[in-house]
Amino acid sequence: MRRAARAILPLAQDLIDGCARYLPAIRPRTRQFRSAQRELLAQVDALESPYPRAVRREHALDGSLKPAEARRIARVLIRHKPERILEVGSFLGLSTRWLLHVSSGWDAHITAVDPNLRHRVFDDPRETVERLNARYPPERLEIVTAFFAHAHDPTHDYDRYEPRRTRAEVAGLVASRPTIDASWNRQFDLVFIDASHRYDAVLRDFSLARSLLAPHGTIVFHDVLSWPGVARALREIQRLHTEATITVRGPRSALVRRLTRPDGIAVYHQGPTAPTDAPASQAPSYPRP
Ligand SMILES: C[S@@+](CC[C@H](N)C(=O)[O-])C[C@H]1O[C@@H](n2cnc3c(N)ncnc32)[C@H](O)[C@@H]1O
Repeated sequence: MRRAARAILPLAQDLIDGCARYLPAIRPRTRQFRSAQRELLAQVDALESPYPRAVRREHALDGSLKPAEARRIARVLIRHKPERILEVGSFLGLSTRWLLHVSSGWDAHITAVDPNLRHRVFDDPRETVERLNARYPPERLEIVTAFFAHAHDPTHDYDRYEPRRTRAEVAGLVASRPTIDASWNRQFDLVFIDASHRYDAVLRDFSLARSLLAPHGTIVFHDVLSWPGVARALREIQRLHTEATITVRGPRSALVRRLTRPDGIAVYHQGPTAPTDAPASQAPSYPRP
């Protein structure tokens, strides 16, 4: 009986969630996000590339935020109205665009960090980030070409997609990007983490994001349900950070996730004490991956 309830409950919750998108209050937001997606595709169509349009489109949509996730992020933004937002991992700038759009009502400032190396079939994603977000006042968006917290190895994408690059060329590109660390003299009200999905990388991103977070700040993680590295890192963060509230929002049943493809987000909301107030010796230590 209990096993049957455990299987049915997530499906029932997903059904309620699925119906919610048809509520009049939610529909316009989905429409606005779809229109941003269409603009992204138009930008991607206009790129020069060794890959056909259909392939570029598929990679662009696959590697970016999906409508259900965008709606969930919008709810968090509207609830907390963060004025200074940091995005870690911009890719082609669809999530950047969404953060800018949703926070237009209170003129939030977005800092978008990405090393602008090849990701999937795109050699220069920053170009698209800029074009897709050109309609917003420049004082609202700062695009930073850098690694956040740690350098990642993009060799896989340079080996897999055209035009191929030698190891030395890739190493040169990686070395040309600075890495942001705790000495960055910035503070944010909300950090959106959507960079490398490896366990150790998510923990490093979180650790640095937390040190840059304003008191009562919020960290939003993307892709927390389907990516094992992100899910495991989140469990670790939940175990170590009992001072914070961490809620996961997204399709609960694996079946629904497989069928509809949106992933979940996790929202870390900090307690009253700023993390920088804690002595370094109290900083949580994460296990090795
Ligand atoms: C999943 S994509 C981001 C998708 C984007 N947030 C969206 O929904 O439109 C991941 C991006 O993270 C970037 N990335 C990987 N490691 C990073 C790091 N250490 N710092 C910043 N960005 C990183 C990659 O270059 C890639 O563009």
